Amino acid sequence: MGDPDTGSGANGAKRELVQSIFPQKKTLFHSWFQLLVLFCVLALGLCYTLSSSSLSLWQNFPLQEHYQWFLNQSSRVNAPAYRIHPKHKVILNKTTEPSTVRSTSLQYHQAYPRNYHFLMDNTEVCKDKIPFLVLMVPVAPKNVAARDAIRQTWGKENTVQGELVLTLFMLGVSREDDVEKLKQENLKHHDLIQSDFIDSYLNLTIKTMVIMDWLSTHCPAAAYAMKIDSDMFLNVDNLVIMLKQPGIPKTNYLTGMLMWNRPVVRSKNSKWYVPEEMYPESEYPTYTLGMGYVFSNDLPEKFVEISKSIKPFNIEDAYIGMCMKKLGLAPTAPPKPSQFKAYNSAYNRCEFSQVITYILGSSKQLLDYWTDLKKPGPPCP
Ligand SMILES: *[C@@H]1O[C@H](CO)[C@@H](O)[C@H](O)[C@H]1NC(C)=O
Ligand SMILES: *[C@@H]1O[C@H](CO)[C@@H](O)[C@H](O)[C@H]1NC(C)=O
Ligand SMILES: *[C@@H]1O[C@H](CO)[C@@H](O)[C@H](O)[C@H]1NC(C)=O
Repeated sequence: MGDPDTGSGANGAKRELVQSIFPQKKTLFHSWFQLLVLFCVLALGLCYTLSSSSLSLWQNFPLQEHYQWFLNQSSRVNAPAYRIHPKHKVILNKTTEPSTVRSTSLQYHQAYPRNYHFLMDNTEVCKDKIPFLVLMVPVAPKNVAARDAIRQTWGKENTVQGELVLTLFMLGVSREDDVEKLKQENLKHHDLIQSDFIDSYLNLTIKTMVIMDWLSTHCPAAAYAMKIDSDMFLNVDNLVIMLKQPGIPKTNYLTGMLMWNRPVVRSKNSKWYVPEEMYPESEYPTYTLGMGYVFSNDLPEKFVEISKSIKPFNIEDAYIGMCMKKLGLAPTAPPKPSQFKAYNSAYNRCEFSQVITYILGSSKQLLDYWTDLKKPGPPCP
C-alpha cells in the first residue's frame, strides 16, 4: 500500500525525468554531445530553482524561517523518506499555507515513538533475568481495576512451563492522573511503563509504538513479546506451549488472529474511522487483530525504525500490519488458529482451557472465569 509522500522520493522522480528527456536513443549521441546536453539541463534546473524560489517562497513567507524549520525537522528524525522538500509542497502547490505544511509533516512524525519520553520505565525489570515472553498491556492510567484483575490472574504467572514471563502495563498521560498514586502503584508492583504522550483512543498507535520502543531498548534479549489488551482472557500456558513448539520462527514472526483484505472504515461515526488523507487505500494490509498479537522480539526494533517512513493512522493493529508490509514481511497464522478467539457468548471451562485469547466483558468476568478454570479437577469431561 503506497503512501503518497513516502517511497522513492526525489531521486526516483529525477530518474524518470532524465529518462523522459533521453528516450531509447542514447546510442546515437556522441559522448561530447551528451555532456553538453547534461550541462544545459543542469543550468536550466538551476535557473528554475532560483526563479521559483524568488517568486513563490519569498512571496508566501520568509524563506529563512521555512528553511530553518525544514532543517529542524530533518535533524529531529533521520528519515530520508520523511523529508518533504519545500519544492514539492510549496512550489508545486502555491495555495498551500506554510502552517499546513508544518502540521502535515508533524503528524507524520507522530507515531515515531522516540519523539516521546518515558516517565516511568522500570529499567531494572529486564536487567537481571531475561524473560522468554513479555506481555505488554496498553491500559488507561485510571484503569486500576483492570490492572489489578490482570495481576491476580494471567499477569500473576511468572514462571510458565518452566519459562520466565513478565507482564507490564503501558500508560500515556491524562489530565486526571493522580501522579502520586501511580508512583505508589508502581513502587508496589514494578510493572508500570508510562510515556509522555496523551492517553486517548486516537493515540493507540503511539501507545503500541512506545511499547515497541520499550521492548527494543529495555528488553531486547527476550525471545517473544505480546501486545494484549486489558479486557482479555489469556491462557498463558497454552501460549508458551505454542511458542515452544518446534518450527515456530525465532525471528520476523508475528501471529494472532489474522485479518485479510479488511476495508478501511470511512463512516465518520465509527470509532475505527480513518480519513482518506491519513490512509488513502481502501483496504489494510494483512494484520493481526489488536486484542492480542504475539511476535518475536527482534521485530520491535524493526518496527520503530520503519515507523519513521510510514504515515501514521489511528488503527494500531493495521499500522503494525503496514510496518510488516514495509519490512517485506507478513504475519503468520498460528499453529491452531482457533486458539485466538475474539467474542465469547458464554463461559465454558473446557473451552477456556484450550484457547489462548478471548475478549471479555469486564474485570469481574476475568476474575470469575480464572478462579473457575484453576480449581482442581479436569476442565473437560
Ligand atoms: C529551529 O530550532 C531552533 C532550536 O531548537 C529554534 O530556536 C528555532 O525557533 C527553530 N526554528 C523553527 C523555524 O522552528
Ligand atoms: C493544493 O492546495 C489545495 C488547497 O489548499 C488542496 O486542496 C490540494 O489538495 C493541494 N494539492 C496538493 C497536491 O497538495
Ligand atoms: C496524541 O498525543 C499527542 C502527544 O501527546 C498529542 O499532541 C495529541 O493531542 C494526542 N491526540 C489525541 C487525539 O489525543
